[in-house]
Amino acid sequence: MTLDDLSRRVEALREQIRYHNYRYYVLDEPVISDAEYDALMRELRALEAAHPELVTPDSPTQRVGAPPGEQFAKVQHVVPMLSLANASDEAEVRAWYDRVLRLLGNDAQVAFVVEPKIDGLAVTLIYRDGILVRGATRGDGETGEDVTANLRTIPSIPLRLGALASNSEGQTNGAPVQAIIPPLIEVRGEVYMRIADFLRLNEQLAASGEKVAANPRNAAAGSLRQKDPAITARRPLRFFAYGIGQIERVQVQTQWETLNLLRTLGFPVNRDARRFERLDDALAYCREWMTRRDELEYEVDGVVIKIDSFAQQAQLGVAGRDPRWAIAFKFPAREAVSRLIDIVVNVGRTGVITPNAVIEPVNIGGVTVRNASLHNADYIAERDIRIGDYVIVKRAGDVIPYIVGPIVARRDGSERPWQMPATCPACGTPLERAEGEVAYRCPNFGICPAQITRRIEHFVSRGAMDIAGIGEKQVQLFVERGWVQDVADLYMLTPDHFANVEGYGPKRVANLLSAIADSKNRPLHRLIVGLGIRYVGEVVAQILADHFGSLDALAAASADEIDALEGIGPAIAASVAEYFLRPESKALIAKLKRVGVRTEAQGTARASRGNALAGKTFVITGTLPSMSREEASALITAHGGKVSGNVSKKTDYLVIGAEPGGTKFAKAQELGIPMIDEAGLLALIGAGRTADDQATSASDGRAATASVPPSDNVPESPRQLDLDLS
Ligand code: IVH
Repeated sequence: MTLDDLSRRVEALREQIRYHNYRYYVLDEPVISDAEYDALMRELRALEAAHPELVTPDSPTQRVGAPPGEQFAKVQHVVPMLSLANASDEAEVRAWYDRVLRLLGNDAQVAFVVEPKIDGLAVTLIYRDGILVRGATRGDGETGEDVTANLRTIPSIPLRLGALASNSEGQTNGAPVQAIIPPLIEVRGEVYMRIADFLRLNEQLAASGEKVAANPRNAAAGSLRQKDPAITARRPLRFFAYGIGQIERVQVQTQWETLNLLRTLGFPVNRDARRFERLDDALAYCREWMTRRDELEYEVDGVVIKIDSFAQQAQLGVAGRDPRWAIAFKFPAREAVSRLIDIVVNVGRTGVITPNAVIEPVNIGGVTVRNASLHNADYIAERDIRIGDYVIVKRAGDVIPYIVGPIVARRDGSERPWQMPATCPACGTPLERAEGEVAYRCPNFGICPAQITRRIEHFVSRGAMDIAGIGEKQVQLFVERGWVQDVADLYMLTPDHFANVEGYGPKRVANLLSAIADSKNRPLHRLIVGLGIRYVGEVVAQILADHFGSLDALAAASADEIDALEGIGPAIAASVAEYFLRPESKALIAKLKRVGVRTEAQGTARASRGNALAGKTFVITGTLPSMSREEASALITAHGGKVSGNVSKKTDYLVIGAEPGGTKFAKAQELGIPMIDEAGLLALIGAGRTADDQATSASDGRAATASVPPSDNVPESPRQLDLDLS
């Protein structure tokens, strides 16, 4: 290649990398796989290394990431947030270590810390006197975005340090820790989403017609960069701390000490971090994780090997954007190239149509993959995925693989663009797409056999009515034979229906019918979940059941009345009200009652509950041991109390859980407002509690025995609270 050719290639690479950086970092929507991106970067780095005269200050190799977006205030990092050099095999790790020894001297005593490389996004958290004052994204490593409000919503990020030696990863001992709180500490770590949480979130997003995320990392990034912290709060984000940017007063000498200090201060620190004194042992541990990565609940794209000693780290220094004292040992990407044979569509229980890829079978990390997720029509259109394309398929954890994008260069012209069918594949009804929604829907709610099947599958599922012995197969049988058209029809099945069906002997039929009959008495909230109302999962259903006490009362409520409940927003309220206004819903409820399904809360309904909290206003802060905040709010309102979001003179009690918010706590202290924990709250309700409360919200049964008068339960500071975090 001539120098001219070379410089053209270098420019072309930079342009591609800039584009993919933008897709990945700014839009959170990558169109190529990480492996492909890495290959582009590697080629550019190699060319620049061989021809330093071609390096320009604006080359992607000369900065850490992409510029921050515009919606958040910019934050200048006092200590830059570095990146990591990659090694893709053991030889590259050994080459890195040879360089380390050259710089430290061959007889240097070197220890290593190996940590999983979590696939999320790096953030930095600044604590002054133990209080979280600012949090920011990494941005380009020099300047990030101020996302404090959003970070504060992540439960695994402590708002105040050292209150409890506990974290979300189960390293809990419940004992107050006498750690010295540094006057200033900047903690670095990774915000991420568990694979199962990511899938659930995508399901919810798809069901409500919103954009789904391509993978857990993008879901985490998108969730953290929401303008409205309330939305972030509803996203299942988590945090792992792995480093310190700045620290005052307290001294740490090694990475291993750092992890221990972070743990002691209350941060979630990865339990799989290990210290080694020999590189061979460190490498053996890396190999172990390569084969065990599926055991983790979150995605890792490798492990990080760090030199333990800070003195040695300082000696080694930084090369460009990467510290010489650490290296990322990347796992082989679990992606493969396959051919997209077809796109088929599925009809969900709310009528949402989701496209799925049928691909030529391909082995990805030991698993044969034949189907992959394509999320929705926009996903396909934006990436211009065509039938016949070679596509990149990625598998994460043990979940359904997804299509990353097409390999445009391998097209031969025979590929066909795909279009969402005009009509429902199950019932032929023309599909609809609501203004501003991503999802296409089959509007034939009552009759579409696919929707009926999905709704019944949902009704009998674990989280809902939990009817043993009925799964997809049985539901399909019932619907195909025309026995069941709505969930109430299940209760009209008789032994006669099964008379000529193979595989259904008298014993099996008897068991099946008795399981169905038993489900008539499930708690009200399960029935509400079973109805399959948009946005209504277990938590919301519990709030509705607690407040209204019967399906009739709920059905009669206006959207405003529902919206007024703590823990329920306008979108949920509108969806619930709309559901009960539909004639088919009214008919279904009448039918459920006719067949004997209990539509009232068990025990005593709301009217007869104690009014122990009448006239009292409560503020809740922190995580309570046995109930969510929504559940606690519902409990308080059910007993005549009021719940407010802010501490003021009107507040009667501050209910404190683990990791309480600094402002509420300080304000309550300033105003001398009594503080109680969950046990204290239950004690206040005391004899006023009904059997129903105990069944639904006091899982440890403490309510029944709590007899401590509230005044004995008022602590001076949260450290004195005997919080049970198990
Ligand atoms: S150390 C040298 N440790 O990987 C300081 N990073 O490619 C660099 N990451 O930006 C960070 N897990 O987002 C470090 N245990 C870990 C990590 C980790 C994930 C991410 C982080 C960083 C990127 C570097």
